[in-house]
Amino acid sequence: MRIDVVSIFPAFFDVLEVSLLGKARGKGLLDIRVHDLRDHAHGKHRSVDDTPYGGGAGMVMSPEPWGEVIDAIAADAPDPVFVFPSPAGEVFTQATARELADEPHLVFGCGRYEGIDERVFAYAATRGRVRLMSLGDYVLNGGEVASMAMIEAIGRLVPGVVGNPESLVEESHEAGLLEYPSYTKPASWRGYDVPEILLSGHHGRVAQWRHEQQVARTRERRPDLLAD
Ligand code: ADE
Repeated sequence: MRIDVVSIFPAFFDVLEVSLLGKARGKGLLDIRVHDLRDHAHGKHRSVDDTPYGGGAGMVMSPEPWGEVIDAIAADAPDPVFVFPSPAGEVFTQATARELADEPHLVFGCGRYEGIDERVFAYAATRGRVRLMSLGDYVLNGGEVASMAMIEAIGRLVPGVVGNPESLVEESHEAGLLEYPSYTKPASWRGYDVPEILLSGHHGRVAQWRHEQQVARTRERRPDLLAD
């Protein structure tokens, strides 16, 4: 899978060189290319933003550098999915991650300040498909951290990235339920014991207990998931 990232803070993405995604890059499973939006700003001060039409607080990212970088990326790879992180977007879920993990080419466009000039989204839609995606109902300073989170959630679903694909099956949100609790050795630690059932060796009863735990904690912590 190819992933392009556009940001005025490309250093945010240096951490993509470590851990599981770093290894996946090394193996050629993920081709991640980070672009500095400022390389496409040509004014005297290489500014990438300006005051909003209609007034209001803050600055808006100018369309020109975005148009240039979109053209550069789409030139050699037609019809990518452009993902623009935004608190005004649709909510990114595990289902979205699964959908996007099937795409051969994603482009993450990281806005800063009060956002990106709205025309950029219309233009990007002429060069690919566009999704505005929110991590949740809170506001970050820009799209970088949100893009990192989405890249990790999507990247780990790309075949080969996670060594044991079975570990993807039982985790939270895969069956619309939260994950069951996990324990490892020792069986007793500081007065806390591992639930008996897990030491029993009865695979069927363990599976049933885990499912009950999933339902119970989903009801307690995320009743909205059961309502769906
Ligand atoms: N940018 C700022 N806040 C955001 C959020 N909640 N999700 C995605 N992108 C964002």
